[in-house]
Amino acid sequence: MIKLANRLKSARPSPTLALNAKAKALAAKGADVVSFAAGEPDFDTPTNIKDAIKGALDSGFTKYTATGGIPELKAAIVDKLKAENKLEYSPEQVLVSVGAKHSLYNIFQALLSPGDEVIIFSPYWVSYPDMVRLADGEPVIVETSAHNNWAPDPSQLRKALTPRTRAVILNSPSNPTGGVYSKETLLAIAEAVRGHDCLLVSDDIYERLLYVDGGFQNIANVAPDLASRTVVVNGFSKAYAMTGLRLGYAAGPKELIAGMQMVQDQSTSNPTSVVQKGAVAGLKGPQEPLFAMVKEYAKRRIVMADGLSKIAGVKCPRPDGAFYCFADVGELIGKSYKDQTITGSLKLSELLLEDFLLAAVPGEPFGADGYLRFSFATSQAIIEKGLARLAEFASKVS
Ligand SMILES: Cc1ncc(COP(=O)(O)O)c(C=O)c1O
Repeated sequence: MIKLANRLKSARPSPTLALNAKAKALAAKGADVVSFAAGEPDFDTPTNIKDAIKGALDSGFTKYTATGGIPELKAAIVDKLKAENKLEYSPEQVLVSVGAKHSLYNIFQALLSPGDEVIIFSPYWVSYPDMVRLADGEPVIVETSAHNNWAPDPSQLRKALTPRTRAVILNSPSNPTGGVYSKETLLAIAEAVRGHDCLLVSDDIYERLLYVDGGFQNIANVAPDLASRTVVVNGFSKAYAMTGLRLGYAAGPKELIAGMQMVQDQSTSNPTSVVQKGAVAGLKGPQEPLFAMVKEYAKRRIVMADGLSKIAGVKCPRPDGAFYCFADVGELIGKSYKDQTITGSLKLSELLLEDFLLAAVPGEPFGADGYLRFSFATSQAIIEKGLARLAEFASKVS
């Protein structure tokens, strides 16, 4: 028997990837599965990006590049952050990685020592606590609630901050809730952390997917005095429909980026050479394909959220951002379906997939049992079809 590292005992595999795999396996066997599980755009990658990748391949751009990204891409990222986010960085403050997930992983590997704490607001993206644990850190969960539009409560945050707090993760728009932090919320968070020497990790991966007025802003925008201890994480997966191409980046304090680069030097080295060329084309080329995608998500969001709220036992206000409806299914929990008690969101998700071929992600691994996450990164016709299945299920619950 191979004895695995102790650190693996505290982490668990991604439940969203597991559900996705189960739904795909059923579909591969010919089952008519409706999946709301995937956190990825159903749109194709924009043509100019694909052409740039093909061109790079044809011209033989297939060798190692600098670990942290080609200078052309770093420059394009610096320009983007300045023009769109009003944040100034030098190229040494940017590290390009194999997806935003990799950027986050590098951050915690570079930052944490055993026992260091990282504050995570729940419901949270499933990978945060496990990435922290894999770096020997301790996730400290601070709950937020739907009643408050998922905004963190500054007094709860203050209580959770300790001398061992090394970072606070902010994710707005949020996966799974679709919640967007207002300027007031960001200011309140800034006020709470000001006296603590900790890093702010701003995961801005869904910044483009906003359905409310006012534009995107993160903590470094509203509290410029904290910009020097904020690391911004972003990537190409969601905005440019490039999930499988794996490209993300981090921009932040020089020492942190240098530490992350060391981790990356000794693990993956550079992200795929030709994909970096595609990312340059994405950032510098026409942004219309993005706007078209966002316009379509905005329509689907209404169909999904309003449709969910019409189903008995389900409540879901329209989310402000991202492409997820995080629906309150608390009324269904504890009830029965075909002599089986719906003990929680995991059981509910299992019943929906097995009996109704409907994949929705349970809230439990996001830290919110009583909820299901429905991705609307799928066509309106599929959304309608899935909602009909959920309604049928709900009608059979007693
Ligand atoms: C909140 C959040 N951050 C980061 C990521 C990672 O994105 P990627 O590694 O594809 O760039 C995801 C993907 O689902 C996410 O939902």
